[in-house]
Amino acid sequence: MPVVIVVGAQWGDEGKGKVVDLLAERAEMVVRYGGGANAGHTLVIGGDKLVTHLVPSGVLHRHVRCVLGDGMVVDPRVLLDEIAACRQRGLLADGQLIVSSRAHVILPYHHWLEAAREGRAGAIGTTRRGIGPAYESKAARRGVRVVDLARPSRLRELVEQNLDEILPILRSWGRPEPGRPEIDRLIADAERAGQELAPVVGDAARAVDAAVRSGKNVLLEGAQGTLLDIDHGTYPFVTSSSTVAGGACTGAGVAPTRIDHVVGISKAYCTRVGAGPFPTEMAPAQAEEWRVAGQEYGATTGRPRRCGWLDAAALRLAVRVNGLDGIALTKLDVVRGRGRIRVCVGYRLDGVSLDEPPLDAGELARAEPEYVEVDGWGEESRAARRLEELPPGARAYIATIERLVGAPMWLVSVGPDRDDTILLRDPFASSPPQHP
Ligand code: GDP
Ligand code: IMO
Ligand code: MG
Repeated sequence: MPVVIVVGAQWGDEGKGKVVDLLAERAEMVVRYGGGANAGHTLVIGGDKLVTHLVPSGVLHRHVRCVLGDGMVVDPRVLLDEIAACRQRGLLADGQLIVSSRAHVILPYHHWLEAAREGRAGAIGTTRRGIGPAYESKAARRGVRVVDLARPSRLRELVEQNLDEILPILRSWGRPEPGRPEIDRLIADAERAGQELAPVVGDAARAVDAAVRSGKNVLLEGAQGTLLDIDHGTYPFVTSSSTVAGGACTGAGVAPTRIDHVVGISKAYCTRVGAGPFPTEMAPAQAEEWRVAGQEYGATTGRPRRCGWLDAAALRLAVRVNGLDGIALTKLDVVRGRGRIRVCVGYRLDGVSLDEPPLDAGELARAEPEYVEVDGWGEESRAARRLEELPPGARAYIATIERLVGAPMWLVSVGPDRDDTILLRDPFASSPPQHP
């Protein structure tokens, strides 16, 4: 009956979707607790691929209730399209999906603001899904929540308030301004989307609490990753939400005392999309080799991901901030045949040794990663389903990572498919499968 958090331990795209899908077999409920459609979580089953953006990655299991938690920011049209695509595949039966009435809504003016900002100096290289501006509206207590979509006068009032503030900014940047008809259309579209969503809107936090109290297995699915966290990441090159395990409690509305396990997902190397410091980044030619081998292109934006060596010092930070009980290591197959492997074990900054990366962007840009080099391996590993079936070099690499980061390996992924997995410790182990 555990409550388990799955969290990204790097800069996102660690393979959370794959791991959540796999673990969801034993779960009754999977809850997204933060972010929005900036996430792209890939599930591959028998070669068939599905990428989820807002809908939790438990969606392929018919017994799993999928919850979009209070901490999310939801673009109603994107959600409706994703629900329609899932239903076309015969997924998301009536009652299987709950969208929090308290989640915040991304509206066109969030996109306008983000597009304008990202075209100016200091761009973050965001996913351009309106995420940052929507969380700004939330923090400013001007945000439109899902519940407001069903309250026409309140919706109009909030939209007008937001536009009062946003339009002068756009004007001062010389951006085109929407006319009255466009604003009226925006409000009418939001109302219509609200009507379409009404059947799936509910009190998500109460639903999660009921599942937790009745002893069900509940999985809280992280989006983005620890180093993109608004507080603990490489600020300002981060997302605008609390991506870490603590954010799961606030975003899903689950008390910290209810959490049983936290599993951190890490690639066997490192990637990052968008701007910002990336100390272990490889030189362009080598990065390109790894990008091709790992198919490192964004699941949401299609952007090529920057590639680098595994940063064990950053993983140590992830273990600390999230209280990781175990690591799920993905993409081990990609490391095969790539020669000797470097692992960052710490940093030097102004003559001082650091066991974690400094998080100040300026310091991080100046800090020198310190590496150890370990042997690679050439043998194929995709068929391995037990640790003993992995090549000795791969096993040694896993042991090195465990030692360096100070957390045990709970899962090793050797290919994109659900089945390409070595499950060493199932966080729901003592519970029977939840489906009949
Ligand atoms: P997420 O955002 O953390 O869910 O990760 P993404 O789906 O954005 O990116 C992970 C990518 O790696 C996807 O294309 C997955 O299908 C793929 N993937 C996951 N695990 C493995 C693995 O062990 N080996 C390989 N080769 N690909 C994997
Ligand atoms: P998943 O859940 C990788 C990055 C963007 C940018 C920064 C801010 O698939 O791991 P945002 O649009 O959130 O304001 O962008 O964060 N980013 C991600 N990178 N995976 C993600 O999600 C990401 N979500 C946001 O590239 O650098
Ligand atoms: Mg992703």
